[in-house]
Amino acid sequence: MLLRGFACGADVEVLQVVEAVMAAAPLRHMQTPGGYTMSVATTSCGALGWVSDARGYRYAALDPRSGQPWPALPASFLDLARCAAARTGYADFTPESCLINEYVPGAKLSLHQDKDEKDLSAPIVSLSLGLPAVFLFGSASRKDRAQRYRLVHGDVVVWGGPSRLAYHGVMPLADGEHALLGRRRINLTFRRVRVA
Ligand code: SIN
Ligand code: FE2
Repeated sequence: MLLRGFACGADVEVLQVVEAVMAAAPLRHMQTPGGYTMSVATTSCGALGWVSDARGYRYAALDPRSGQPWPALPASFLDLARCAAARTGYADFTPESCLINEYVPGAKLSLHQDKDEKDLSAPIVSLSLGLPAVFLFGSASRKDRAQRYRLVHGDVVVWGGPSRLAYHGVMPLADGEHALLGRRRINLTFRRVRVA
């Protein structure tokens, strides 16, 4: 489900908090298990953060760069994620992790499923900020052709239930200039990892 402009009233505050998270846990380009460097730069906040290296993809309680816990999930983020989940039919969504992805022009995310979470009954809540992107969203079968959606600043996408394991990705980011973020797109995905 696509909630157009859902976060627009909160964008400035969310971005301030994102900057604070990035100051404590800087963006970095993770290595994929296959040995590639991701074009998207990532960091996390919450009790668990998503990490990738030669050993695989997983959630970890400590930031591997600092050896410290990830910054806490801010209350304003939790409110926004819960509110978007409730609006789309998922009551009591309590994410433990917020993955922050930064895209610069040319950065992309290949089609994948979000399946490192143990609790697949909870949805993924995604907030887009900054430059527009073309989001690809298919089905749980890689063979099905993905639909394309243009996501702009403030849009929220929620996928869960029958769509929880849908393949999705982001086309290479087109260059541009955003009033708040410049030549960048930032995406936050809120995730419930452990079974509640
Ligand atoms: C993701 O799949 O983790 C991020 C999707 C996005 O950047 O819109
Ligand atoms: Fe994903």
